[in-house]
Amino acid sequence: MEKIQKLIEEHVGYLIVLTILIISVAGLVEIVPLMFQKSTTEAIPGVKPYNALQLAGRDVYLREGCYNCHSQMIRPFRAEVERYGHYSVAGESVYDHPFQWGSKRTGPDLARVGGRYSDEWHRVHLMNPRDVVPESNMPAFWWLANNKLEGSRVVASMTALRKVGVPYTDGDIKDAPAAVEGKTEMDAVIAYLQGLGLALKNVR
Ligand code: HEC
Repeated sequence: MEKIQKLIEEHVGYLIVLTILIISVAGLVEIVPLMFQKSTTEAIPGVKPYNALQLAGRDVYLREGCYNCHSQMIRPFRAEVERYGHYSVAGESVYDHPFQWGSKRTGPDLARVGGRYSDEWHRVHLMNPRDVVPESNMPAFWWLANNKLEGSRVVASMTALRKVGVPYTDGDIKDAPAAVEGKTEMDAVIAYLQGLGLALKNVR
């Protein structure tokens, strides 16, 4: 045994290979079961796939890089739960590809922002955050109000998400262009924000 240990410790090549092997196996043992556990793979009651308008809004959220300043994961600590509400659980983001948990918080966490403000508040805030929060350093996103949504893009998003397991029906996809007809990117982002975190909104 001592001989083997000496051999490994004195040959950096062996040490590297064996370290990588051990970390890989241990990693798989920890990670793989999570892919088959209900608590991480099934939506909790009340969590539904985003509707067409919300999904278009989510795509704008990603494009504009809102995640660079906002996380969507409430950690299970008292200070967080008192400020934002029930801590986030995996079953809330099973339809998010990619999920938006993050850890960068220049602004507040948005995991449960749904219903916290009126649509009108969000509109004013996105047009110019300083109009409602004078000390805000969030950029203005006024141009979103000038951009009309394209139905074909929402159809493409839904079709892609369906391939990775989000249960959109043919009907959902067929109706998507009509659902976003005439709406702006601003409307879509607001619909997305207003839907965030509602499933555990009133649970403490
Ligand atoms: C440069 C960083 C930054 C970016 C990028 C940014 N935000 Fe913010 N956001 C903030 C800060 C700081 C605040 C807190 C002050 C305020 O309310 O304006 C905030 C607040 C908010 C709030 C209010 C949250 C609450 O609970 O009071 C919402 C909603 C929001 N942002 C949405 C967005 C969306 C949507 C985008 C992308 C279109 C975005 N933010 C991009 C920094 C940012």
